[in-house]
Amino acid sequence: MKKDSIKAGLIGFGTIGRGVAKLFLNSGSIINSKSGIAVELKKICDLDITTDRGIKLPEGMLTSNINDILNDPEIDIVIELIGGYKPALDFVLRAIQAGKHVVTANKALLSKYWDEIAGAAAKNGVQIMAEASVGGGIPILRGMDKGLAANRIEKIMAILNGTCNYILTKMTFEKMTFDAALKEAQAKGFAEADPTLDIEGFDTMHKITILSTMAFGSRIKEGDIPVEGIKKVDYTDIEYAGEFGYVMKLLAVAEKEGAAASVRVHPALVNKKHLLASVNNEFNAIYLKGDAVGETMFYGRGAGEMPTASAVLSDVIYIARDISHGLEHIEKTVKSGQPVKMQKPGDIISKYYLRFNVVDKTGVLASIAGVLGKNNIGIESVIQKVQKQHFQVPVVIMTYAAKESDMNKSLKKINAMKAVKEKTVVYRVVD
Ligand SMILES: NC(=O)c1ccc[n+]([C@@H]2O[C@H](COP(=O)([O-])OP(=O)(O)OC[C@H]3O[C@@H](n4cnc5c(N)ncnc54)[C@H](OP(=O)(O)O)[C@@H]3O)[C@@H](O)[C@H]2O)c1
Repeated sequence: MKKDSIKAGLIGFGTIGRGVAKLFLNSGSIINSKSGIAVELKKICDLDITTDRGIKLPEGMLTSNINDILNDPEIDIVIELIGGYKPALDFVLRAIQAGKHVVTANKALLSKYWDEIAGAAAKNGVQIMAEASVGGGIPILRGMDKGLAANRIEKIMAILNGTCNYILTKMTFEKMTFDAALKEAQAKGFAEADPTLDIEGFDTMHKITILSTMAFGSRIKEGDIPVEGIKKVDYTDIEYAGEFGYVMKLLAVAEKEGAAASVRVHPALVNKKHLLASVNNEFNAIYLKGDAVGETMFYGRGAGEMPTASAVLSDVIYIARDISHGLEHIEKTVKSGQPVKMQKPGDIISKYYLRFNVVDKTGVLASIAGVLGKNNIGIESVIQKVQKQHFQVPVVIMTYAAKESDMNKSLKKINAMKAVKEKTVVYRVVD
């Protein structure tokens, strides 16, 4: 049914909510002209409606009663920006059941409850859009869904967490310790007071769940994604990586070969010549390969008030456009996907960086090379330092591409050797 104007309700007047309210107030004419219809922010709901947020809102716009949005038949689009699972899931499902379209930036919620939300949206004929949930201001979901619609997406490699990228950049270029870099990220507002979700890789996992589910049109589940964060990254390895011509990045990797997919999150050494290697500080980038387009990369600010609000408003405009054309049931961004077969982690092939701490004795390197060789792993290059600490020396090896199961078998043997004094440090390598 065609309408004369669209009304939106915003839940959550925090960092991003404030940015969205600012855009509605300051960029109304752009929003209306791009939507082809007047779009108005009718209500904002937050638990705290007394704190001054530095914006002058029209009288009566703020409420602490969620029903003022969810039960208002005039509101067509609900913008969820409170974050977390509870009560966000309840609010989103109630909005859908009330026939309202939903825009959310909540990657944790979508990653975990994709099936419930997509199923409810399909049943109720409403649109769910979540451009801001992956890569903040970078238009990756729409770029992939629309701009690359003719492609089969074969591979994604992405830097999706600004906090981790900032920390690794500071460690690499300013030789900062992990703790000092994290403190600086927090002081600059790039990291949360509790940075666990970021540094342990779970925020990146939420985003790659959404991105790969959309890219492959198949449901990728959180439980299928091995996750490793950057907490254990040591400057020593960043320095050796540099000598080999690589930089350390926290990567989300998703691949689909034939029917099987593989999705993972881990720190990796990226060749300095690769496009992703020059993505520094708090910036995000998504490098992907489509069968027709080839390689392409999306780059920009992955978080922050206005970049993220920009993505939220673009969703609102798209939905408003659909409604104004009477096409609201035509196309869904968040839609149900069939489960997909996941590749066995042991079958994944990668080059590896290995750092051993060994007794300074002839024959040790030959024994390590022997174990690797027996398990079909070839050595591409070696760095052996003369520096001795308690008669131990670091030996660093870059391997040729090897199967993960072969690497695991080798490391089990090598770590058990008497001459090997510490657990081997292992990173995957991306050329
Ligand atoms: N910050 C970013 O750069 C960024 C980037 C991309 C995506 N996102 C996503 O955007 C969403 C919002 O993030 P944010 O940084 O804006 O968070 P935020 O600053 O913590 O804002 C959330 C707001 O929601 C309010 N709220 C919490 N529970 C509520 C409830 N039951 N009813 C009404 N209001 C409630 C909070 O109030 P109180 O403060 O009183 O609890 C707070 O004002 C999250 O899903 C986040 O993952 C954020």
